[in-house]
Amino acid sequence: MLRRRQAGTKTTRMTGQFPATRLRRTRATAWSRALFRETVLTPADLIWPLFVTEGSGVEDPIGSLPGVSRWSVDLIAARAKEAVALGIPCLALFPNTQADRRSDDGREALNPDNLMCRAIRAIKDACGDQIGVLTDVALDPYTSHGQDGLVDGAGYVLNDPTVEVLIGQSLNQAAAGADVIAPSDMMDGRIGAIRDALEEAGHANVQIMSYAAKYASAFYGPFRDAVGSRGLLKGDKKTYQMDPANSEEALREVEMDLAEGADSVMVKPGLPYLDIVRRVKETFEVPVFAYQVSGEYAMIEHAAAAGAGDRDALVLETLLAFKRAGCSGVLTYHAAHAARLIG
Ligand code: PBG
Repeated sequence: MLRRRQAGTKTTRMTGQFPATRLRRTRATAWSRALFRETVLTPADLIWPLFVTEGSGVEDPIGSLPGVSRWSVDLIAARAKEAVALGIPCLALFPNTQADRRSDDGREALNPDNLMCRAIRAIKDACGDQIGVLTDVALDPYTSHGQDGLVDGAGYVLNDPTVEVLIGQSLNQAAAGADVIAPSDMMDGRIGAIRDALEEAGHANVQIMSYAAKYASAFYGPFRDAVGSRGLLKGDKKTYQMDPANSEEALREVEMDLAEGADSVMVKPGLPYLDIVRRVKETFEVPVFAYQVSGEYAMIEHAAAAGAGDRDALVLETLLAFKRAGCSGVLTYHAAHAARLIG
């Protein structure tokens, strides 16, 4: 058994010698495996990301995310009720903003009647505090260039002017009833600025879950289809999202966001970055979440469809891996399906 590490103490193991110690002994029967299981996955560990679109009565399937749809606001409350019934404690919302409401400066993010705000209100009206609503803060669903912030003439994403807009976006979402503000933009200094603004506006209990260690990843493709930014995005996001080669830097990102007032931190993508989850958890001992992103979801779906593995087993094993690595919870498009399998 690995003991909890304490400063200045060496980890000790109590593993003996074969044959007195046979590690297969406790694996021999189902009851024993259940008794010795170190990690459990429950529906309460899951956050379910949902995409919202204009119109009414619309369920719009997303081609590159098989099994996932965009829902119009009138249908989104039913998804929330489904989540409550399944024991899922929190939803994450992403809007597919209509094309004529996207602009260079992403000002639709500040509209109190934008898709996101209408969806928040619909869910809160239907479910109240039975479920948490987590909202993404970044400008990419609202900009005509698909970047997460304001850009200069050369296309460089400007930090401080973007933070000013993100403050307004966060206040807009909080006013609509968001429970957790989740900045995914990777601008420097935004957590502290948003925290101050929330406190001042009387939203002391609105949480911040920071996308603290978010990497410039190739796994976001289907998500960009889902929010309609893929065709718009020129270039990449490498001047603000992290280099996949870096791990020390993730700890610095997390440390800064915690110091600025983040209630929890996120690592994203998920499975390829479990080493980061583990380092963050062991270093800071704070609530850590991971985002099993769209490309990861698609890999599982396509692998299962190709007969390369059993879908349900793949889903549950990957989600359990997040818990084992140290996550308090996981954002996953498989949330409802997984909750049903566990349930
Ligand atoms: C945008 C955002 C992205 C995701 C969540 N918020 C994409 C990006 O940074 O380009 C990705 C989620 C996924 O792939 O499932 N700020």
